[in-house]
Amino acid sequence: MKYAIVTGTSKGLGAAIAELLLKNDIHVIGIARHVNKQLSQLADQSKVTYQHFSCDLADVDQLDRTFEKVNDQIFKKETSRVYLINSAATVNPIDTVANHTIEAIQAHMQINLIAPMLTTSLVLKKAKQSGMETIVANISSGAADRSTYGWSAYGASKAGLNRYTQTVALEEEQLGTSNKIILFDPSIMDTEMQRDIRAVDQEAFQEVEQFKQYKKQNKLRDKSVVAQVFVNILVEPAEINNGHYYSIKDYV
Ligand SMILES: NC(=O)c1ccc[n+]([C@@H]2O[C@H](COP(=O)([O-])OP(=O)(O)OC[C@H]3O[C@@H](n4cnc5c(N)ncnc54)[C@H](OP(=O)(O)O)[C@@H]3O)[C@@H](O)[C@H]2O)c1
Repeated sequence: MKYAIVTGTSKGLGAAIAELLLKNDIHVIGIARHVNKQLSQLADQSKVTYQHFSCDLADVDQLDRTFEKVNDQIFKKETSRVYLINSAATVNPIDTVANHTIEAIQAHMQINLIAPMLTTSLVLKKAKQSGMETIVANISSGAADRSTYGWSAYGASKAGLNRYTQTVALEEEQLGTSNKIILFDPSIMDTEMQRDIRAVDQEAFQEVEQFKQYKKQNKLRDKSVVAQVFVNILVEPAEINNGHYYSIKDYV
């Protein structure tokens, strides 16, 4: 029995990943503020289960309580492998830094960086106690490696996530565990995050016109295609290169 904890399952890439994991006979625990009834229906039709945990990842206490329940449920004798996939994120606030509020900066870093750090720590703690093979995947972005006008928070949180992930990979390797942790860069996809990006004024985001063109010219990848490439990597754990930055651009 294999379990995957996926954050951001209510829509976008997280929902597409969860769907494909269920189709690969992996039980899925979904974490988001909103439910995804389609995933429950899909699980009902198959031999696996989908369980939703409503959680605002910007709230540390909620996250901690949620993962206590989730971990108790999945780290059990019958489980042979655990996946943790941190897909939930926000691109907001998109604006020059003088216009950022304390609340927006705090929520952004909490959702995009602190939450994946906490989930990774909580899950690897359980993995250590149980000796269970655990694979963690953090969803990154090309924005981590280039400065984009208006995206200082997003670039910073994704750059932090990259360094964090590669450091955890180094530790796991030197500790000699069977755990692996990777980054996956999905590049531009046709999700609600792109809708948020296109809705911003040029003063706040200089490249907004370019992103409107990506949509018009059909240059945004289909999230299901991206999720399929990612899940194909996940289901062959022996082939996974610990600490590697996987990019969709190397596949499609
Ligand atoms: N779309 C792109 O072009 C693109 C490009 C590069 C990288 N990425 C990365 O790909 C991943 C998925 O993005 P996407 O495009 O699928 O985004 P999306 O369509 O906006 O979906 C975001 C998901 O994150 C969840 N989420 C956001 N804030 C949350 C919070 N406070 N608590 C709990 N869950 C929260 C949302 O659930 P609720 O609202 O229900 O809470 C939703 O399920 C992200 O890590 C993103 O940075 C996307």
